[in-house]
Formats: sequence, C-alpha cells, structure tokens
Amino acid sequence: MWRDEIFEFTKGLAREAGELVRRERKQGISRGFKNGRELVTSADTNADRLISERIRARFPGHRIISEELAPEYGWVEADAHDLWIVDPIDGTVNFAHGHNQSAVCIAYIDQGDIVCGVVYNPFTDEMFCAAKGGGAFLNGDPISCSKETELRLALIATGFPYTKVEIEILYRRVQVILNHCADIRRLGSAALDICWVAMGRLDGFYESLSLWDFAAAQIIAREAGATYGHFHPVPEGIPPQFHGQNILVANPRLFPQLKALLSAVDYPDG
Ligand code: IPD
Ligand code: CA
Ligand code: CA
Repeated sequence: MWRDEIFEFTKGLAREAGELVRRERKQGISRGFKNGRELVTSADTNADRLISERIRARFPGHRIISEELAPEYGWVEADAHDLWIVDPIDGTVNFAHGHNQSAVCIAYIDQGDIVCGVVYNPFTDEMFCAAKGGGAFLNGDPISCSKETELRLALIATGFPYTKVEIEILYRRVQVILNHCADIRRLGSAALDICWVAMGRLDGFYESLSLWDFAAAQIIAREAGATYGHFHPVPEGIPPQFHGQNILVANPRLFPQLKALLSAVDYPDG
C-alpha cells in the first residue's frame, strides 16, 4: 500500500517540478558550467531544490541522491533502501538551447530494487512511469517495446559524455551501429531515450551514464518488456541495476545482437 502512495507522490512531484522547469525557461534562465564544461542552469538547481524539499518534508528519514545538490553517491549498496535518485533536468543542453527533449527524472529505491520511476517531459507533457510488477505507462496508457527483429531495420540512439577523453572508442561504436542498423539518433536526454525504447519509438539505446540519468527510466524499460543490461560484464561486487557503464537497452530480440556488435568493437578478438 505504501508503495502505491510513493508512486502517486512521485508522479505528482515530477509534474510539479516539470511545471517549474517550463515556467523558468519562459521567464529566463541563468547559465553556468560544472567542471568548466558541463552546462547547468538556474532551473536545474531550482528544480532539484523543489524535489529534494518535497521528499524531505514527506519522508524525513529517506536518503536523496540528486545531480545538482547531492551528487556524491560513490557506492549504492545492493540492499539500498528508502533512497531517492533525482535528475532535475535530464537533457540540460537541449533545455538551454530551446529544444523540447528534456525530462524530470525521479526514482525510488528500496531493498536494492528500483521500486518506481517517473520520467516527465514538461514540454511535450509526456509522463512515462512504472512501478515494479505493474507495467509501464505513458500518460496513463500501457506501453511496450518494439517488436523489430532485424538489426538492419533498427533505429538506435546513443549519447556522448561531456568529456572527450575516450572519443575514439565512441566513433568506432557509432561506425559499427551505422554499418549494421538502419540509423542512429543522438536526442540529448538519456532518460527519454530509454523511455522511447520502452514505448517503441526507438529499438535500442546504449551509453555510459550516471545513476540519476538511468534509474527512473530503467524500471520503465523493464516493465515495458525491454531487456536492460550491459554490453560488457558488470564488475564483480557492483549491483548491476546501479552500474552505469556500457548500458544497453533494447527489445529482447535485438538485445543479444546489439550486445555482440558493441562488445566486439572493444574486444575484436572476443
Ligand atoms: C545528459 C543527457 C545526455 C547524455 C549525457 C547525460 P544531463 O544528462 O542524458 O543525453 O548523453 O551522458 O549526462 O547532463 O542533461 O542531465
Ligand atoms: Ca542527466
Ligand atoms: Ca541533469
């Protein structure tokens, strides 16, 4: 019962924060850079503050990891409980450039499980959400991943990190995807990319991400029947559901094919 309550709270909170984000862009935002290169706006911080305050007021004993105000998570234990993961705006670069592919992401974790997740795009008014075992939804309607089986017809999305240190490997992955699949997209919000796989607008997605980028979207993808995993082994001792490196999400027929392609790029000799 309390899980239903948490799910409803999360949906309401994502909508409230989304409205703030939309309003702030209309009114004018200020911009800054984290680590000298990563764009952050006043709306990112204000939305993070609103979400964190609301969670703290409703659930005083719970822990919050959020990209702008509490990003130091280091390690999330396999049995993490009463933990909230927040990305106040996923797709900040889109947001700041006036594109409409951005979303508020909130996930709740208990007993090591992502129990529910909400990804809300306030510019298209699309709310993706899922609670464990209850299916995935877009604006209240059930969603499921694509049924495409052929790589050559598959539309794949990816993203690129702010740091350019490992750019060569990213080129090689793009090259192999373009050689084998129909086309590639770089839409600018990893959480929405994963939700788009969940509802069939995309057939697959891969990238290395931070916990707040993927936590909410992960349960939406799983509940929509997509396979969510990694294209390289998860190091021993790391709970796979919280591991951000080499994420791959696709419909179950394409997942093994994409995994084989991407892992062969990095280790050509198998
Ligand atoms: C970014 C977006 C982007 C992805 C980056 C993320 P942010 O999140 O999800 O699509 O390629 O890896 O960092 O910075 O807009 O919250
Ligand atoms: Ca993000
Ligand atoms: Ca963000």
